[in-house]
Amino acid sequence: MPVAGNPLLSVKIYLSVAFFIVPERAIFEQDKSIYNRMKTILITGGAGFIGSHVVHLFVNKYPAYKIVNLDKLTYAGNLANLKDIENLPNYEFVKGDIVDSKFMLKLFEEKQFDGVIHLAAETHVDRSISNPTEFVFTNVIGTVNLLNAAKHIWKDHYEGKRFYHISTDEVYGTLGATGMFTEETGYDPHSPYSASKASSDHFVHAYHDTFGLPSVVSNCSNNYGSYQFPEKLIPLFINNIQNNKPLPVYGKGENVRDWLWVEDHARAIDIIFHKGKNGETYNIGGHNEWKNIDLIRAMCRIMDRKLGRPIGESEKLITFIKDRAGHDLRYAIDSAKLQHELGWAPSLQFEEGLEKTIDWYLENEEWLHNVTSGDYQKYYEEQYVKR
Ligand code: NAD
Ligand code: TYD
Repeated sequence: MPVAGNPLLSVKIYLSVAFFIVPERAIFEQDKSIYNRMKTILITGGAGFIGSHVVHLFVNKYPAYKIVNLDKLTYAGNLANLKDIENLPNYEFVKGDIVDSKFMLKLFEEKQFDGVIHLAAETHVDRSISNPTEFVFTNVIGTVNLLNAAKHIWKDHYEGKRFYHISTDEVYGTLGATGMFTEETGYDPHSPYSASKASSDHFVHAYHDTFGLPSVVSNCSNNYGSYQFPEKLIPLFINNIQNNKPLPVYGKGENVRDWLWVEDHARAIDIIFHKGKNGETYNIGGHNEWKNIDLIRAMCRIMDRKLGRPIGESEKLITFIKDRAGHDLRYAIDSAKLQHELGWAPSLQFEEGLEKTIDWYLENEEWLHNVTSGDYQKYYEEQYVKR
C-alpha cells in the first residue's frame, strides 16, 4: 500500500527518518511520552540573539515539532537571523507583542501550544537605566501574560505541558572576589534590567507553587556568539575595532563576567526543556571568568592579527569612561546541578569561541551594517507586509 494512503505508516516512517537524522535522539528514546504529546511549541523572542539559536536548534533537530516563533521585532529582533529556516514546514513566524494580553490569549487558544520557551525580553542593562518602564512592561507584564495564557488553555490539564522561562544570573546581584552563584543564592538585583528579570522569575515560581503550572527556570551567565546586537560588549567592540572607533570601557574595566558560547546555552535549553524537573531552577554558566579589560585586550590582539594591523594598534582605541551606574562587579555561575543531574557541559574553549565569533562578525559585515542602520526592518516588510 502506498505510504500516502496509510497515515499511520507515514507517521512511522517520518519518525524513523526524524530519529535517524537527529544526533541526540536519546532524549526522545528515553521519554517517548513527552515526544508523543509535545507537538506545538511557542518560542518567544526567537528573532533575537539567543532566541534565533534556540529556534535553529529546535527546528532542525525536531522535525516533528511545530515551532512557532513569536517576536515583536524590536530593534533587537531580526528575521535575517532565521533566513535559512524560514520556509521549513515545521516553522512559523508570528509578529506580536507579549504585553498585549488579548492578542497572546487568542494566539494560545488558536495554536493550543504544548510547550513554551520564553526568551522575549528587553535585555540591555544600559537601556534599562535610561528607560526602566519598558523593562517592566515587557519583562514583567509580558511574562505574566504568557503565564496567564498557558494557565488558561491548559486548564489544570498539565500532563506533558511545560512553561520554560529563560533568565539571567544577574538576578543574584554581584559577587566579591570569590564565590559563585548557586541555585540557592538569594536574589539581589541591582539594575532595572535584573530587577525586572528577578520579578518575572518570581512570578513563574509563584504560578508553579500556587496553580501547579508545570514550569522550569534557568539562569545563565553572559552569552557571546553570532547574531548578537552590537550594543553588548563583544559585538560592539568588534565593530568599533574594525571601524577604528574608541572602545568605551566603563570604569577601570575591572568588572568580571562569566562568558558562555551561545550554542552551548541553546543546548542547555534543549536539555532542560525536555529533562528538567518542574518547579526547579538550573544555573547555566561557562566556568569562564574574564575581567573586562583582559577580554578587551585579547580581542584587540586577535583583531590586529585578522586585520593585518601591527600588534598593539587596536589597543590604542581603549578609552576609559565614567562607570555604569550600579555596575555589578563580578558574576560567576556554578552549573554543577545542570552538569550532574542533566548531563550538560560547555563544549567550546573560550579562545576558540572568541576567534569564531570575531570571524563571524568580520564575514557578516552586511548583517552588522543592516542591524546598525535599521535596514533589516525593510526585510520584514518585503517578506510579510507587502506579500
Ligand atoms: P535580545 O535582546 O537579543 O532579543 C530579545 C528578543 O525579544 C528580540 O527578538 C525582541 O524583538 C524580542 N522582544 C522584545 N520585547 C518583546 C515583546 N514585548 N514581545 C515580543 N517580543 C519581544 O535578547 P537575548 O540576549 O537573546 O536574550 C534572550 C533571553 O535570554 C532574555 O530573556 C534574557 O534576559 C536572557 N539572557 C540573556 C543573556 C545574554 O547574555 N544575552 C544571558 C542570560 C539570559
Ligand atoms: P554587557 O555586554 O552590556 O552585558 P552585562 O552588562 O549584561 O553583563 O556588558 C558586559 C560588561 O562590559 C559589563 O561589565 C559592562 C562592560 N561594558 C563596557 O565596559 N563598555 C561598554 O560599552 C559595554 C556595552 C559594556
